[in-house]
Amino acid sequence: MARDRSISSASRRSFLGLSAAASTAIALRIVTEPMLASAARHKPRAQDGVLIDANENPLGPCASAREAVLSIVPQGGRYLDGLTDDLVKQIAQMEGLKAEYVRLYPGSSNPLHHSVCAFTSASRSYVTADPGYEAGMFAAGTVNAKVVKVPLAKDYAHDVHAMLAAAPDAGVFYICNPNNPTGTLTSHSDIEYLVENKPKGSIVLVDEAYIHFSDGTSVVDLVRADKDVLVLRTFSKLFGMAGLRCGAIFGRPDLLERVDNYGGWNFMPVTALVAASASLKDPQLVPERKRINATIRSSVFAWLDRNGYSYIPSQSNCFMLDTKRPGKEMIDAMASQNVHIGRVWPVWPTHVRITVGTAPEMEQFQAALKKVMTGAVTASVAPVRSASRRRMDRLLKRV
Ligand SMILES: Cc1ncc(COP(=O)(O)O)c(C=O)c1O
Repeated sequence: MARDRSISSASRRSFLGLSAAASTAIALRIVTEPMLASAARHKPRAQDGVLIDANENPLGPCASAREAVLSIVPQGGRYLDGLTDDLVKQIAQMEGLKAEYVRLYPGSSNPLHHSVCAFTSASRSYVTADPGYEAGMFAAGTVNAKVVKVPLAKDYAHDVHAMLAAAPDAGVFYICNPNNPTGTLTSHSDIEYLVENKPKGSIVLVDEAYIHFSDGTSVVDLVRADKDVLVLRTFSKLFGMAGLRCGAIFGRPDLLERVDNYGGWNFMPVTALVAASASLKDPQLVPERKRINATIRSSVFAWLDRNGYSYIPSQSNCFMLDTKRPGKEMIDAMASQNVHIGRVWPVWPTHVRITVGTAPEMEQFQAALKKVMTGAVTASVAPVRSASRRRMDRLLKRV
């Protein structure tokens, strides 16, 4: 009997040990846009193709950011922690925040994931729009929080009234503004209403990854006013630094401390710090790139109108195209033309997300789209089942 007991307690210990390790591993698994984009591909994208499936910026870093990266490379053997403090101060000053309200990360995916883990749990739900950016849903899954998906309103804004009604037990209300994938805006007054009427102990997490492309109003003033609001920003979109990795979260220090508990702070790549700093010093960069994106987007919309195709007007570098047929087939047929378009959200199975590329890329997109829509191209690409694709599929099944 004694022997049996010791065996069972040993196996229980090892089971607990294993399960703790497994749950830690899952909690750390951060899902990002490039992972989601690659999971939707049936074939690796050809680098000489039209790459409009991951909301990247084809312009890349601006000239001064490139120069800054090149000139810091010889010092790449040093930690140079003063550079982080400098960029925090620079951003804080631009946003009218105290430095302790700003944290830097290599991209905004980490603080997004950590915020959701910090403020949701088995008893505090994660509330998000449908269709909406999926990363936070995966984060909620890692802490066993319920995911409450609320359809966008008729004007494709977040339906803040429905979000409040759907989850009296909410821990996090996630507002992506402009929304990924629709590129549509939610008004400052609606977000303020949500903040004023949300359940006690919850936070509103406002993801402003694409705000610079739009005419939307940031809610950084609500952070300044010490509300229960966290704001995410990234240099991956308008600033063209997705591969360089720089992002930030703004919030009251007590909220940021809870976010810190989930991943802490790690040293930032010096290349990212100097590129971000140089980008922010160029006063023309945001208006110029916003104008370039809007001009190309309007021209694509005018072409879609002329040809009778349906889409949702967007204020961002992406939009939803209603193909009136299974979106997944569309992705394959377009890929056969070397045009890699974005994924489908289950709630809208005939829509595909299109990223706004360069003008020549969008001409290639239009030519391929016409061929596919008129039936001149029906080829389907044979699925490639890579190990990473299979792993992602397993994760996707969880939300
Ligand atoms: C809405 C949204 N938030 C956050 C991110 C994270 O981007 P990154 O980690 O590159 O900053 C993305 C990336 O596409 C996004 O679309």
